[in-house]
Amino acid sequence: LQPALGQAPEPPANYDEAKVGTFTLPDPLVSKAGKRITTPADWQKRRTELLQLFADNVYGQTPAQAVKLRFQVSNVDQAALNGLATRKQISIFFTDYPQLPPIDVLLYIPKSAQKPAPVFLGLNFCGNHCVTTEADIPLSTRWVSNVIGNVSVNNRATEKARGLQATRWPIETVLKRGYALATAYYGDIEPDYPQGWHTGIRSVLGDTTKASNWGAIGAWAWGLSRIMDYLQTDPAIDSKRVMVMGHSRIGKASLWAGAQDTRFAAVISNESGEGGAALARRWYGETLERISTHFPHWFCPRYTTYSKRVAELPVDQHELLALIAPRPLYIASADGDQWSDPRGEFLSGVEAEGVYRLYGKTGLGPVRFPGLNEPVGQTVRYHNRSGKHDVTDYDWAQYLRFADELVR
Ligand code: GCU
Repeated sequence: LQPALGQAPEPPANYDEAKVGTFTLPDPLVSKAGKRITTPADWQKRRTELLQLFADNVYGQTPAQAVKLRFQVSNVDQAALNGLATRKQISIFFTDYPQLPPIDVLLYIPKSAQKPAPVFLGLNFCGNHCVTTEADIPLSTRWVSNVIGNVSVNNRATEKARGLQATRWPIETVLKRGYALATAYYGDIEPDYPQGWHTGIRSVLGDTTKASNWGAIGAWAWGLSRIMDYLQTDPAIDSKRVMVMGHSRIGKASLWAGAQDTRFAAVISNESGEGGAALARRWYGETLERISTHFPHWFCPRYTTYSKRVAELPVDQHELLALIAPRPLYIASADGDQWSDPRGEFLSGVEAEGVYRLYGKTGLGPVRFPGLNEPVGQTVRYHNRSGKHDVTDYDWAQYLRFADELVR
């Protein structure tokens, strides 16, 4: 592919471990003023500092103001999936911004639950109709990508998209294990294209004149917290046990949501890669330069300024993972997804260990990069699955076990 006129050709991606280079990571346990952090109380202060650094340099500032929400339950099916679930559809409206579309939440609660159910919450890529083959889930009417499955027409969903990503959402398996599942289309919060913010929450909140204005990842993370606001009001849900899960770009958003909002009991990053779990300072697979030039709308404007000086970024992604401590964290890679830098995701988890230790927890513990399909770790877990960039039954089997052991 020839670069467009006036555009420099892209540096090729590196997949050679020998060429990754040497680097010094910022220490999560040393404050800006140079003080060593040795207690959870000090870490809480350092946490605030780190959140600010990520806001200023990576994802942008999440607006602090409370937004009035109205929850409208539009449909309840008491016997969904052959009686396995109560299925609810809830629209989250923004009372002060009637021009914004609501976030449409699809929620399955196991019928067998004797008490409020713990829940996996994750945004989906192409509309709620994509996660299930059930015929009575309305097609999303929002902007959708034409690229996913080639089933959209002029960025609108068609019937062909129904169940398109159902393999990524083993709803029945999750329900049978006693967990609820909540999902919503990420495009309800912000459609994922450079101008998409004009019709999303960033059109009314934030400050576009600032280098630290929030990007789309920040908006999606914010949306996850608004879904949490709803879950806290639903008596069928155990809102102390909400696990936020996300794949790829949505994995990045899930990590940022979990870092900021401690109501999330656990975080699961599925192949979140660059700008997610992977260390930015490693030259391997996707780089800060590549992601910030191809997807500038995901980040704050200042992030791009680090594209040729990543060593000067005041944070690295292990500190994002550390912000989730002491809560359980699952980092999943796939061997066929070298673009996401599996080893860089693992090492990032290793580097968060000290913060888990402050709380008397073992994170990944003293482990080496594991073999394929070999989950490792304690409060922080990691696996490198064989196969491609995707969410599979194998991934979910690990998440369910992790939830049984650490969140239940
Ligand atoms: C691209 C992008 C990644 C992202 C991925 C996805 O490959 O470069 O950073 O994670 O899309 O969201 O599937």
